[in-house]
Amino acid sequence: MMTRSKAACVLALTGTLLAGGMPTPAAFAADGDPVAGAESFTRACQRCHRSPEQLMMQVDGATPEDKTQTLGVLLPAHHAADATLRANIIAYLLSL
Ligand code: HEC
Repeated sequence: MMTRSKAACVLALTGTLLAGGMPTPAAFAADGDPVAGAESFTRACQRCHRSPEQLMMQVDGATPEDKTQTLGVLLPAHHAADATLRANIIAYLLSL
C-alpha cells in the first residue's frame, strides 16, 4: 500500500517536472532548487537581509525574468560566487 502511493507520488512529481514551461515564477529559475536555496539564503544572506520578501521587492525588474537577470548580474560579486548556490538562492527568491 505504502509503496504504491509512494510510487504514485513519484510519478506525479516526475510528470510535473517533465511538463516544464509552466508560467509560474519558479519556472524561470528551473535550474535552481528553491528548497536548498531557502537554506542557503539563511546561511549566506539573512544576517544582512532579514526579510527575503522585502529584498525581492527592491530587486529591479517588472517580471521574474527581469529579476532573475538583475540577481544574476549582482550576486556573483555579492556573497554568492558559487553558481549552484546562486541558482538555488535565485530559485528560492523567485518562489516567494
Ligand atoms: C555582509 C552583509 C550582506 C550580505 C551577507 C548580503 N548582502 Fe545583499 N546587500 C547588502 C547591502 C548593505 C546592500 C545594499 C547596498 C548595496 O547595494 O551594496 C545589499 C544589496 C542587495 C541587493 C540589492 C537590493 C536593491 O536595493 O536593489 C540584493 C538583491 C541583495 N543584496 C541580495 C543578497 C543576497 C541574495 C545575499 C546572499 C547570497 C546577500 N545579499 C548577502 C549587504 C549584504
